[in-house]
Amino acid sequence: MMFHKLTKYTSKPKLYAPSTNQFWDDEYISKGLLEAHLNPNWDGATRKPEFLDQSVKWISKIAPSSQYKSLLDLGCGPGLYAERFHSAGYSVTGMDFSKRSIAYAKQQRLLNKSNIDYRYQNYLTIYSIEQFDVITLIYCDYAVLSITDRLLLLRKVYQALRTKGKFIFDVFTPLMRKDESRSWQYCEEGGFWNENPHICLESIYQYDDEDHTELRQCVVLTEETINCYNIWDHFFTKEALLSEIQSTGFSRCEFYGDIAGKAFTDTGKTICCVLTK
Ligand SMILES: C[S@@+](CC[C@H](N)C(=O)[O-])C[C@H]1O[C@@H](n2cnc3c(N)ncnc32)[C@H](O)[C@@H]1O
Repeated sequence: MMFHKLTKYTSKPKLYAPSTNQFWDDEYISKGLLEAHLNPNWDGATRKPEFLDQSVKWISKIAPSSQYKSLLDLGCGPGLYAERFHSAGYSVTGMDFSKRSIAYAKQQRLLNKSNIDYRYQNYLTIYSIEQFDVITLIYCDYAVLSITDRLLLLRKVYQALRTKGKFIFDVFTPLMRKDESRSWQYCEEGGFWNENPHICLESIYQYDDEDHTELRQCVVLTEETINCYNIWDHFFTKEALLSEIQSTGFSRCEFYGDIAGKAFTDTGKTICCVLTK
């Protein structure tokens, strides 16, 4: 039975085949993700604290809180940027669909008396009209979306911004694309994916669709269960970004090397895009 189930995962999945379980909002996995966010020496879930400081400083320079008062941080996680934006003078809304991260962010809000408006919500469902001056989406999350969802998000963000408002986000460049591979890991005492002993079979697949989609598939086996997590990703050049943004109505588009304002080069691992309504 287990063997039969497992054979399903021996071939390349169809493009956008769903996971069997949630990832960001899973009761157990979200614990490890929150730890990753809060550990200043890991940069898997968020970047290092010094980078966060630089990033908020730079954003405050290109969109000062005196003029750009209200800021919405999409995928805010445990609120590490949101707290900094608040200290920089913005009136902040943070949105995330990890219950655990939002609960942590709300605790911090109490401790810091920072009156940030946190919302547990999928950012693809925002429906605001001319409410925000700045919208951020930080740590390359734009790129996990399919082209359909990216265009949907761009439309919703455009609608949610006031005139002259800015959408600021970053993406990885094709330098970060991985080679196709298969590997496995045995976690005898439990680990990231499951608290019980488990084996994780990991595959990287490349697709030849127009969007050059990449998949990291993790099949997690415990004594009783087989769960499959499909994590999709995309990589962007400046030209590719320009072409998908062109029909969305933004009046201006600027590129940087990262979301802390480094100058753009053709050889960087990230691109930060600043769109002005
Ligand atoms: C890579 S983390 C980055 C967190 C934060 N922006 C940072 O850099 O510290 C991505 C975050 O986006 C959230 N997220 C992913 N997709 C989302 C969606 N569709 N709606 C709301 N939150 C989402 C996840 O729960 C996670 O907290």
